[in-house]
Amino acid sequence: PRSIWLSRHGESMYNLDGKIGGDADISPRGEMYARKLPELVKQSVGDGRKLTVWTSTLKRTIQTARFLEFEKLEWKALDELDSGVCDGLTYAEIEERFPEDFAQRDDDKYNYRYLGGESYRDVVIRLEPIIMELERSENILIVTHQAILRCIYAYFMNVPQERSPWMEVPLHTLIKLTPKAYSTHEERLSADI
Ligand code: F6P
Repeated sequence: PRSIWLSRHGESMYNLDGKIGGDADISPRGEMYARKLPELVKQSVGDGRKLTVWTSTLKRTIQTARFLEFEKLEWKALDELDSGVCDGLTYAEIEERFPEDFAQRDDDKYNYRYLGGESYRDVVIRLEPIIMELERSENILIVTHQAILRCIYAYFMNVPQERSPWMEVPLHTLIKLTPKAYSTHEERLSADI
């Protein structure tokens, strides 16, 4: 049966500083994950199986996928949730500069739209073509971002999208989803980095 593999990009320099959004490079630890990913994929996918790797257009996903010897495709629709005026800030800075927005987001994270940016609801809509393409594709590995992975994961695991903004998607972990008739089977492989 066909499967879908999901991974966040390796730790980025922004992750280290607690900054959101941006287009930062991966950190030395993220680089270790990138170098380990081919082995992890081999372990989970098996030898000789064809795979296509999808990334976003942001550096941290492309850098993370660069040692994988498969066909690759970059999708703008896989870029991280656009945090608009808050792009590049830490959560503490957002709370200080935009206290009302910060509270509103906590109240209704799914519907909250950053000023000049997006909400989770917006992301779910822009992911529709990706989901359609996934449904008609063979084995795909997606290397993308936390918010995006939450929405894709919720779709396949049948979790109501309103709950996706709060779901845990750890760094440096390869998630394998195998859709079955009535449910989706899940396996996680951690890189221990
Ligand atoms: O901190 C990493 C990150 O991917 C940010 O770029 C993004 O804004 C955030 O996580 C999304 O998570 P949350 O919706 O919980 O703020």
